[in-house]
Amino acid sequence: MAHKRLQAYLTYYREELQKAYTSCFNKLEIPGNLKQSMLYSLDAGGKRLRPILLFASYEAYGQDVKKAMSSAIALEMIHTYSLIHDDLPAMDDDDYRRGMLTNHKKFDEATAILAGDALLTYSFELILNDPLLTADEKVTLTKELTACSGPKGMVGGQILDMEAEKQSVSLEAMEEIHALKTGELIRFAIFAGAFLANATDDQVRYLEKYAYYLGLIFQVQDDILDVSGEEEKLGKRVGSDELNEKSTYPKLLGLEGAIAQKEKYVQQAYENLKLADAEDSLLKALTDYFSERDH
Ligand code: IPE
Ligand code: IPE
Ligand code: MG
Ligand code: MG
Ligand code: MG
Repeated sequence: MAHKRLQAYLTYYREELQKAYTSCFNKLEIPGNLKQSMLYSLDAGGKRLRPILLFASYEAYGQDVKKAMSSAIALEMIHTYSLIHDDLPAMDDDDYRRGMLTNHKKFDEATAILAGDALLTYSFELILNDPLLTADEKVTLTKELTACSGPKGMVGGQILDMEAEKQSVSLEAMEEIHALKTGELIRFAIFAGAFLANATDDQVRYLEKYAYYLGLIFQVQDDILDVSGEEEKLGKRVGSDELNEKSTYPKLLGLEGAIAQKEKYVQQAYENLKLADAEDSLLKALTDYFSERDH
């Protein structure tokens, strides 16, 4: 379980994030049903790990995360959109998410698709309208966020994941799928925080390597929990991967093998964190949390 300092950090930034995006939505004049379905999934209570990584990455090099808030909200909105679409009948066909009915079950499929589209596009608007960011910062952040979330990133990974159903894939192929579908949004979190806090190019380079391993750790654990987790804690169905005949780490390596592989990634992550001069930051504890989480 996470240690005390990390637990306090998680609680504090979850609240800050919620306050900040709620204030954005209060000012937003859009069709009522659309707003409701966007907020339904955002408010459903995800762990907010990507925004928290972004803040921790910022704080490894700087102080006062105000400048990082719009990127953190944008990232959580894109992550939430990816989950709404991931749960659709045409994709993983899941009925529960974050302990509640999935968006298409609560509303309908068309509304869920549009809520996802709206969360995606509004995220860029938020960054571009942030008065705390310079024009150069906005360009760099949107460039990275589009790359991480689009065809070269998360969406690309989702299609590879789909195509790998019912197939037997190599460890290398699985690493590529996981790095894209999950790792790239995590990479954005790490990049954006360090970039906004003016980390050096070298530090960013090592941090991006760290983020690669952190993404793999995160998804291996997600795969493990899909086999051996508790539905109550996870807030989503266990056994979804087996039902969809997904290519996962436990399927390829067995449960013990998946855990051993995860440990190798943890060591690589630590190494790169050290090279990025961020060993003493909260990113270290977050790495352990990612690896050991039970939900
Ligand atoms: C689940 O992500 C989807 C994956 C990328 C594996 P999280 O486990 O972070 O989901 P929430 O945000 O807490 O619901
Ligand atoms: C989803 O991976 C990754 C996304 C880009 C949404 P999964 O399909 O394994 O996520 P869960 O298990 O449904 O949360
Ligand atoms: Mg999926
Ligand atoms: Mg899924
Ligand atoms: Mg999963």
